Amino acid sequence: MRKPAESSVPLTDVIAQRWSPRALDETREVSWDQLRALLEAARWAPSFGNTQPARFLAGRRGDATFRQILGTLTERNQAWAHRAGALLIGIMVSRNEKGEIPYAEYGLGMAAQNLVLQAVAEGLVAHQMAGFDAEAVRERFAVPDDAIPRVAIAVGHAGDPAVLEVDKLIERERAPRKRLPLGEFAYTGEWGTPAF
Ligand SMILES: Cc1cc2nc3c(=O)[nH]c(=O)nc-3n(C[C@H](O)[C@H](O)[C@H](O)COP(=O)(O)O)c2cc1C
Repeated sequence: MRKPAESSVPLTDVIAQRWSPRALDETREVSWDQLRALLEAARWAPSFGNTQPARFLAGRRGDATFRQILGTLTERNQAWAHRAGALLIGIMVSRNEKGEIPYAEYGLGMAAQNLVLQAVAEGLVAHQMAGFDAEAVRERFAVPDDAIPRVAIAVGHAGDPAVLEVDKLIERERAPRKRLPLGEFAYTGEWGTPAF
């Protein structure tokens, strides 16, 4: 299923086509080559002073890393994310030799968005999740204290909403995507005056 962004002007394809499905096709795999492309895209994200605070853990369905990551997700996320072809954890390194890294979370966010958009370019979908146990990730993967697991990401192939089985979940999957109107989002002159 596709749920392209409804925009007042045409957007570049990967942005228009990106969305966060939960219905994933478990008969299809995500290859190491595809994962490499996603992580290369993330590696080339901008960051404050090129401090590069983002790190990732990545596993493919069937391997130990995937199983370990899946086990850290909330039950609600596990219920659909087990069909992903790959699971990742985005980690923010908070300190370097100069002290605290400014804008570290912003840097991880930029890297994650690069990863997600590259997934769309590869014909895949990516769904980010806050619903996971960061401390469990720290323990299972021996993540050092100054590195903070911030987001889990399911990557896979969009599937039939019917795989979600529960009517309410199928409805939510099919529901239109919503955003603030542009007039409440971009201002000019002063706060609250729509730019468009
Ligand atoms: C930081 C972050 C955390 C999120 N956490 C979850 C989550 O735990 N479970 C989930 O199903 N979706 C999660 N989402 C997905 C959002 O709900 C989704 O991006 C939002 O509703 C907009 O929909 P769209 O991505 O399809 O445009 C998360 C997204 C982000 C960016």
